[in-house]
Amino acid sequence: MIKGYKAKPDLLRDRIILVTGAGDGIGRTASLTYARHGATVILLGRTVAKLETLYDEIIGAGFPEPGIVPMDLATDSAADIQELVEVISDKYGRLDGLLHNAAILGERVPFETCDLDQWSRVMQVNFNSVFKLTRLLLPLLKLSASASIIFTSSGVGAKPRAYWGAYSVSKYAMEGLAKLLADELENTSNIHVNILNPGATRTSMRAAAVPGEDPQTLKTPEDLMGLYLYLMGPDSATENGKTFNA
Ligand SMILES: NC(=O)c1ccc[n+]([C@@H]2O[C@H](COP(=O)([O-])OP(=O)(O)OC[C@H]3O[C@@H](n4cnc5c(N)ncnc54)[C@H](OP(=O)(O)O)[C@@H]3O)[C@@H](O)[C@H]2O)c1
Repeated sequence: MIKGYKAKPDLLRDRIILVTGAGDGIGRTASLTYARHGATVILLGRTVAKLETLYDEIIGAGFPEPGIVPMDLATDSAADIQELVEVISDKYGRLDGLLHNAAILGERVPFETCDLDQWSRVMQVNFNSVFKLTRLLLPLLKLSASASIIFTSSGVGAKPRAYWGAYSVSKYAMEGLAKLLADELENTSNIHVNILNPGATRTSMRAAAVPGEDPQTLKTPEDLMGLYLYLMGPDSATENGKTFNA
């Protein structure tokens, strides 16, 4: 990204963008920001009340009407996602952007004491659901003139770190999936695929990960939005298979 990137106000006009984990944290701010720049945002999350509040905020601001998809990525089935694909196909006919944002932290303990069920749950939300959504939404992304898939990773995804457990491993696996896909789709599609590491950001996940930290010392989700817009919009159409650190 060019430093100081400034998105045009209508950068995402008429684009259909799905954001996972849209109800809170970075996903909430990204959804609102994409809507402000003209996108119709499909808000996917597990807490319906949060999605409804965001829906009202987007409508109240006069931005394009979003869609709401209540889905728990810890328990969703392939059939649930297939149903979502059909709904998007019927209503919008294509998908122009997919922001994989939802994730859970899980427990951070020495590997030899990690809980087996918790490990599986983190892998399910942070990796398996990302795989399933990408696999089943790909035909709709291929119908876009220019589509973007953003995989949200972490510093401990690029380089696994002691005691970060399944969170670190799930992000490492997700980065592998992103790179494989970027390689396959290069020159064969209009889809570009990149990895975004937001870095330490003022959200509830960060507060849970580093409880003693003063949140006021951290950047906010709003501070990240230049990069989120750049990677979602047409200005980054030639970027593929890269990692962007906020
Ligand atoms: N914040 C940081 O410092 C930081 C640093 C590096 C990477 N990241 C990454 O950035 C992304 C966003 O993190 P964040 O800090 O914004 O986290 P957050 O504030 O905890 O928000 C996470 C969002 O994901 C949703 N979610 C969690 N489990 C879900 C499930 N099973 N099904 C559907 N939605 C689910 C949450 O829904 P509910 O609101 O219903 O719980 C919430 O909306 C994550 O991928 C994270 O790994 C964050």
